[in-house]
Amino acid sequence: MEALVKYAIRTHTCGSLSKKDVGSDVILTGWVQRRRDHGGLIFLDMRDRTGIIQVVVDPGMGLAFEEAQRVRSEYVLYVMGRVRERPEGTVNPNLPTGEVEVTVDSMKILNRSKTPPFEIDGSPVDESLRLRYRYLDLRRREMQQNLIMRHEVAKIVRNYLNDNGFIEVETPMLTKSTPEGARDFLVPSRLQPHHFYALPQSPQLFKQVLMVAGIERYYQLARAFRDEDLRADRQPEHTQIDLEMSFTDVDGILALVEGLIKDIFETIGVKVETPIMRMPHDIAISRYGTDKPDLRYGMEIGDVSDIVERAGFKVFADTVKNGGAVRGIAAAGCGNYSRGQIDDLAKYAADHGAKGLAWIAIEAEGSIRSPIAKFFTEEQLESIISRLNAGPSDLLLFVADKPAKASTVLGALRVRLADDIGLIRPGVFKFMWLVDCPLFEWDETENMLTPSHHPFTMPTIETIPLLDTDPLKVKAYAYDIVINGIEVGGGSLRIYDQELQEKIFKLLGLNMEEAREKFGFLLEAFEYGAPPHGGLAIGLDRLVAILLQKRTIREVIAFPKTQTGSCLMTGAPDMVNDQQLRELHIKQR
Ligand code: AMO
Ligand code: AMP
Repeated sequence: MEALVKYAIRTHTCGSLSKKDVGSDVILTGWVQRRRDHGGLIFLDMRDRTGIIQVVVDPGMGLAFEEAQRVRSEYVLYVMGRVRERPEGTVNPNLPTGEVEVTVDSMKILNRSKTPPFEIDGSPVDESLRLRYRYLDLRRREMQQNLIMRHEVAKIVRNYLNDNGFIEVETPMLTKSTPEGARDFLVPSRLQPHHFYALPQSPQLFKQVLMVAGIERYYQLARAFRDEDLRADRQPEHTQIDLEMSFTDVDGILALVEGLIKDIFETIGVKVETPIMRMPHDIAISRYGTDKPDLRYGMEIGDVSDIVERAGFKVFADTVKNGGAVRGIAAAGCGNYSRGQIDDLAKYAADHGAKGLAWIAIEAEGSIRSPIAKFFTEEQLESIISRLNAGPSDLLLFVADKPAKASTVLGALRVRLADDIGLIRPGVFKFMWLVDCPLFEWDETENMLTPSHHPFTMPTIETIPLLDTDPLKVKAYAYDIVINGIEVGGGSLRIYDQELQEKIFKLLGLNMEEAREKFGFLLEAFEYGAPPHGGLAIGLDRLVAILLQKRTIREVIAFPKTQTGSCLMTGAPDMVNDQQLRELHIKQR
């Protein structure tokens, strides 16, 4: 017997009925998707979580028929009837239950509904309307399937990690600031005037404390809060598959996570080849112009500096002379782009910081169209074309700038062109680990080093000496898992040596006093026998959105927030009354 029938007032579920049930007496409960009156008969499409069944009410059924006449869309029904095969010619092949229907003996309206602002399972409607009436939006089959997939993934995660000796431990929501690089959401304390809790940006510090505590393997499906600008793949609160492990190394953690990714993608019939390829950070930047390359298509960035440095095009030659680079990509099939289309790409490049965009179009029959071709010899042109693996019908685009800048601009163009050209086929998943990441980045506005990951990340043994001489060259034992150009998770080995930690803080411009104030509890814990440890966190929302090939993570979150951080259903964030503010010792300006 189906689980949904146990402890319930129904005997069957709508979506489960089929030919095998013909002749059975059934009690069904659910919502009315649609009512149709047909030559005296009333047809109701009745829906529960499992699906839809057609219910037929005959005028001869007296009270039941009267009740059916009162029924409207989204009314809640209790129906007693019998399953029968649909008459010849009325089978609905689009419905899993389309071979049968239920003839009604009696029925009761359990509740009425206002006319919904949009049809459930009708044509797509405006997202703000969906978010305002999320409870109706979530009645849609697609949304129910999204939530079910999310639940399935969570189940797999728990099973997998449980089987590997991990223990689920909850960490506090009301806590102190966690350094993950975003702004904190603060919660004022009533009991301690002018003191604030911070909502965790991640359980990072607690999971490290748990390692000192001897838990050895921890995980949590943890909510994390970050006050940052929102995007399609960013919400103010998100869920992390957060894990940490003692006595391991990078290979151990990556292999563990690969096993998990394998299990998860199996649910959609995708076989993940392991080990997943590892790409060093500097290769990702130079070849793809991003730390999260989308490997579903090629269009790799090529460097033509050596070819153009002695040619007559001054912009290119001068750039190379001054330590810059000239790099390019070949957009397949775009050789016939018009001036207008190319100008549009140039504007896009400029928006991403390019000083210009040079181009060479190769027509289908091989002839060349380009404002800069005249500066190059036949031989140089050939070398450029072959360096970019290009040929007839391709459009070559070049940016001359500082090497990383040239790549970043081309990386953005690459992503946009893949979309324009239609290089992305549905159902393709490309996985990679980003490895050998730099430990620090340079913060241009603050003019100081900042952690690329967070300040507890361990530098690699070989590059530790560079801390004193060239800190930006120091590499970290840090890794991100990237799927289809999206950073799905990231983590690192952590520092467990007090001296090294102090050195890193110093480089980050934190003296020990400030560090102690911020996360003294962790530093203190480290003085009591911290084991070597490391871990990672996977964004559950992003992972499920990728599995289901959704454009935004809002599609896989039951109650997400808008771009401006509002919940359109509850109206959060909201004003509070003076009394509440007084209790919290807060004066409003
Ligand atoms: P990180 O900051 O990389 O690492 O976060 C881990 C993963 O969480 C997801 N994520 C988000 N998803 C939706 N909305 C957001 N605003 C958002 N921010 C992050 C991403 C990201 O890869 N403590 C470390 C992990 C560790 O070192 O173990 C951490 O939080 O998919
Ligand atoms: P100019 O000689 O400045 O008119 O530039 C000739 C072509 O080179 C134009 O198509 C410019 O967009 C392009 N260009 C200028 N600067 C750069 C640059 N830094 N990188 C790539 N192309 C450039």
